[in-house]
Amino acid sequence: VTDSKTIGIGLLGLGGVGSGVARVLTEKGEQLTATAGAKLVLRRVLVRDLTKERDFPLPANLLTTDLDDVLADPSIDILVEVLGGQTPANEYILRAVSAGKHVVTANKDVMARYGPAILEAAAEQGVQVLYEASVGGGTPIIGPLQRDLAANEIIAVNGIVNGTTNYILTRMAHDGVDFAEALKEAQDLGYAEPDPTNDVEGIDAAYKLAVLASLAFQAPIVDTDVYHEGITSLTARDFLYGRELGYTIKLMAMARRDDHGIEARVHPVLIPVDTMIAKVDGVLNAVEVETDLAGKVLFHGQGAGAMPTTSAILADVITITKGQMERPGTTAVAPTTGETSVKPMADVETKYYIRMNIAERPGVLAQITRVFGDLQISIASVIQKEIDFKALRAEIVIVTNRARESSIQNALQDLAALEVVLEIGTMIRVED
Ligand SMILES: NC(=O)c1ccc[n+]([C@@H]2O[C@H](COP(=O)([O-])OP(=O)(O)OC[C@H]3O[C@@H](n4cnc5c(N)ncnc54)[C@H](OP(=O)(O)O)[C@@H]3O)[C@@H](O)[C@H]2O)c1
Repeated sequence: VTDSKTIGIGLLGLGGVGSGVARVLTEKGEQLTATAGAKLVLRRVLVRDLTKERDFPLPANLLTTDLDDVLADPSIDILVEVLGGQTPANEYILRAVSAGKHVVTANKDVMARYGPAILEAAAEQGVQVLYEASVGGGTPIIGPLQRDLAANEIIAVNGIVNGTTNYILTRMAHDGVDFAEALKEAQDLGYAEPDPTNDVEGIDAAYKLAVLASLAFQAPIVDTDVYHEGITSLTARDFLYGRELGYTIKLMAMARRDDHGIEARVHPVLIPVDTMIAKVDGVLNAVEVETDLAGKVLFHGQGAGAMPTTSAILADVITITKGQMERPGTTAVAPTTGETSVKPMADVETKYYIRMNIAERPGVLAQITRVFGDLQISIASVIQKEIDFKALRAEIVIVTNRARESSIQNALQDLAALEVVLEIGTMIRVED
């Protein structure tokens, strides 16, 4: 810390979020000073292109393309990393930590893969790395897990952590729009990237779940430990049939610990329409934390956007600043780096919805239910949806009781091999 009343900030990145941080530091300087107990001064900003026009223009002498200009500046106490992507952001954060700088990052890609190593390095160096903005945008969730719920054992963390897919699913659920159309709309509105893969395949949500599960279970869980499946194969029919059964479909990020280990998975889920999570619509996010003492706690709010993300980043900057004002040298607590065993998806147990097209003739249902029976899967209901008498085909939906994922995968293979099963439409897991 340079002097007792000023904290110098270095900003890595001046895109959507970086410009938001620069703007709020400038425009709300007085209020931030009063809250933080020190003046927060933006000293240097790393970008790629010095000539680019910026949302929030800054004096040219603040900008640099050389990280060393930021790291070597002794008047910079905290680095705010808003570059995005795993490389070189990961390396830059580690270099900042080695240089004795505190770091605030919004980067879930980095924290999901390298978080445990970064936090360990930070603890060794006696600096803090805070990352509230990496999950849930402006909605506080990391801080509550680190502080407010610290006396609890966390049983589960379940939520909607990707606004883009939640927007798409909301349009499909409420307006009967199909996936391609809802995606196009999300892209036109700027909610989805031109290449939407990370969002629609559940990769972004898996990053965020790794960050949350690591913290919740104090275990070094990384993105590759998290099973993920996207929303691209859902159809308007599934929403319709789901609704008839009392469910809506959400892309859920779910982590749970029990005596048998930790589950961490992201995939579409049929959830009862009367739950609070089912009512979280549009680009909003919500995370429910299930604990032993506080019961269930729900965090709900803006999951992205420059200003919500800036809110989370500056809260972390204020936390570090206050810590430095009161007890200079306060260190971060790293997650324990003990053994982690995230269960393979094959061992997960839940209920299943399976939609398929079958031949319409006597004896067909018996063949199908036998497949389930042979694998010890009990069926909760079989619903005949549509019959095409001309083509002699029918659409049915089967909902199972709790079964093991590996058994269901075997059942799907055996069903596909039956001559009377014309097409397996969708399999969606059901969480009551
Ligand atoms: N946008 C959101 O709503 C949101 C929400 C939560 C978290 N986040 C996270 O916040 C971070 C930033 O997102 P964003 O939307 O602001 O991204 P962005 O608009 O793409 O901005 C990235 C900035 O970083 C700079 N940059 C990238 N790579 C660089 C490199 N190798 N060297 C120097 N500068 C480099 C770019 O410089 P140039 O401008 O010169 O190209 C740009 O200014 C990401 O980790 C993202 O996941 C974003």
